[in-house]
Amino acid sequence: MDNLDRIKERIEYLRKTLDESNRRYYVDNAPVMSDFEFDTLLRELADLEDEYPQFKSSDSPTMHVGSDLGGASDSSAEASQRRGFVQREHRYPMLSLANTYSISEVEEFAARADRAMGGTVFSYCCELKFDGTAICLRYHKGKLVMALTRGDGAKGDDVTENALKISNIPHTLKGDYPEDVEIRGEILMPYAAFDALNEDKILNEETPFANPRNAAAGSLKLADSAQVASRGLQCVLYHIPAESVSFDSHSQAMEKARSWGLPVSDKMALCHNIDEIKAYIDYWDVNRKSLPYPTDGIVIKINELSSQRSLGATAKSPRWAVAYKFQAERALTKILSIDYQVGRTGAVTPVANLESVLLSGTVVKRATLNNADLMQQMDIRQGDSVYVEKGGEIIPKITAVELSLRPKDSTPAEFPTVCPDCGSALVKAEDEAKWFCPNSKSCPTQIKGRLIHFCSRNAMDILAGEATISQLYDTGLVRTPSDLYKLKSLQLIGLEGWQEKSALNFINSIKASKEVPFERVLFAIGIRFVGQATAKTLARRFGSMDALQKADVQELTSVQDIGLTTAQSIFNFLRDPDNAAEISSLCNAGLRMSCDVAAARKSNALEGKTIVISGTFSISRDAMKELIEAHSGKNSSSLSRSTSFLLAGNKSGPEKLKKCRELGIEVLSEEQFRALLPDHGQSAGPIIEEPSLF
Ligand code: IVH
Repeated sequence: MDNLDRIKERIEYLRKTLDESNRRYYVDNAPVMSDFEFDTLLRELADLEDEYPQFKSSDSPTMHVGSDLGGASDSSAEASQRRGFVQREHRYPMLSLANTYSISEVEEFAARADRAMGGTVFSYCCELKFDGTAICLRYHKGKLVMALTRGDGAKGDDVTENALKISNIPHTLKGDYPEDVEIRGEILMPYAAFDALNEDKILNEETPFANPRNAAAGSLKLADSAQVASRGLQCVLYHIPAESVSFDSHSQAMEKARSWGLPVSDKMALCHNIDEIKAYIDYWDVNRKSLPYPTDGIVIKINELSSQRSLGATAKSPRWAVAYKFQAERALTKILSIDYQVGRTGAVTPVANLESVLLSGTVVKRATLNNADLMQQMDIRQGDSVYVEKGGEIIPKITAVELSLRPKDSTPAEFPTVCPDCGSALVKAEDEAKWFCPNSKSCPTQIKGRLIHFCSRNAMDILAGEATISQLYDTGLVRTPSDLYKLKSLQLIGLEGWQEKSALNFINSIKASKEVPFERVLFAIGIRFVGQATAKTLARRFGSMDALQKADVQELTSVQDIGLTTAQSIFNFLRDPDNAAEISSLCNAGLRMSCDVAAARKSNALEGKTIVISGTFSISRDAMKELIEAHSGKNSSSLSRSTSFLLAGNKSGPEKLKKCRELGIEVLSEEQFRALLPDHGQSAGPIIEEPSLF
């Protein structure tokens, strides 16, 4: 093989690897390499193509943006809830940004801009690089008419219905907006929403999202817009194509956009030279860590729109902007061994035991490998040296294998074909990425996992950890949660490690658990996809286990935030004869199988009223929602003809008030609202301001 053949082979390898990585990143939202690794390979490819132009190709990933079009090709539970969207052409191509990790390249960008501007005075607009998924919104006559993802840059997926569910995207504009305007930005998942979503996913033994960016991109493409509403997504807008408007500068366009009620960041700064740019970078490299949403760098834009127009763009990115990306903190460590853990739902999760390493101030010893597909794609092996990063700076994860340090004799890790505990052959449903042990009725690990979950603090809060549950299981005393309620302290005192006092404490905690409210019982019984929040919603909506058991799938999907997958899971669980028998035993043991809705209900003053709240009140918004429910009213997040009234607090959204006028919906102040309640709803609590995140 001569040198040119080797170059050609390397180019082909890089294109294939980068195309595949783009697909995993943009379509599946399950990245297989870190941004830094991707950008390094892309740079190598671009350099080779420059040096050997005979191998240039319009298909190369150096020539086009990564595309998010097309259905998910992974097989996660999340992917099965995504759908195909109608694709529409972008009016103006939706490009990406040239990336760099080096300050000297930012200096080169500024020097190039200086030369290109030939002495004309100009400024730079520096802003945060938001780490989400790109969106293009179109407002016609002040109304949101279309939301498109970036897609392949020429056409995007039409996600309008879902965008309308994102709380800070206005449905209508205010002020002196143009008749037709297109504005671009990012859909983000703030850290708090990301943590809550992944906590739920882990609880349900689903593969958690690797980082908030993937979570945002996946959530925006969910089939069920009610579910999108519950994901806590936020939008921030940062670009109006210069071709479409007659403003002088980008910063002026952004100020205008803000005046139309659009969410625009207030962290932008005008800089006039490279030193000011560097100061902005240094400031945000540190201070971004306390922002409530993810950012991965700084974007530097030439502010004057006339200059933007004259500089134009390459096929992939504009010449008037550059992104300086922050290096994610990462550490190199070794995989000592790989465990295959069986959870309470039977899902088998590979977990790497690592040589302890310090990362962003915490010692990392273990990292999940999520599922067999991901392990295989990354070809992770025992003995490998791997890079660990904090996903979205929160969960440690393995982002890459350092192949140069791979031991010569290493062999690919083999995912087990049978359950490591009970030996049953593992199965995989078509639409799942995970392998499952199907022996849910008698696999000891699954049974113990369900018991541990049942006893956990947020469920029944029974004083039993892993060791106690294992002992009770192994001695045959407890096989199902209802067996716990038959235990006598004398049975325990005979066992290793138990004394009279500890046995009594344990029995007392079991007794006390009979007072645990119904919503926690519903969470404790371990229905797949029913986390704490869903259990609470179900308890409030149905009021009792009896009513829930009678509900069909259609009725369940009509509940806010419950999609088809969750509804089916609830239905199947409750119809299973063994589960039904266990629920009946728990009921006989004295557990709460209904809510004290009536007791919690203070009055029927708001019976039949659907209320939308906006702004801030003398109590927190959550407390206000509870107050409405306590007086038999129903909360709703969006205004429609069936809304009874808008409860408007301080700083309530002007677009909501405008919509009320259009639809003829009454608007009540907190005082007017309280006048409807007996005792004025007994006001209490501090004022909780909810400022804009950006
Ligand atoms: S301007 C023509 N400004 O980063 C490009 N993009 O890696 C206009 N991004 O595709 C984009 N923060 O999705 C711009 N402040 C910001 C941004 C930003 C994040 C995203 C955007 C872009 C990607 C490139």
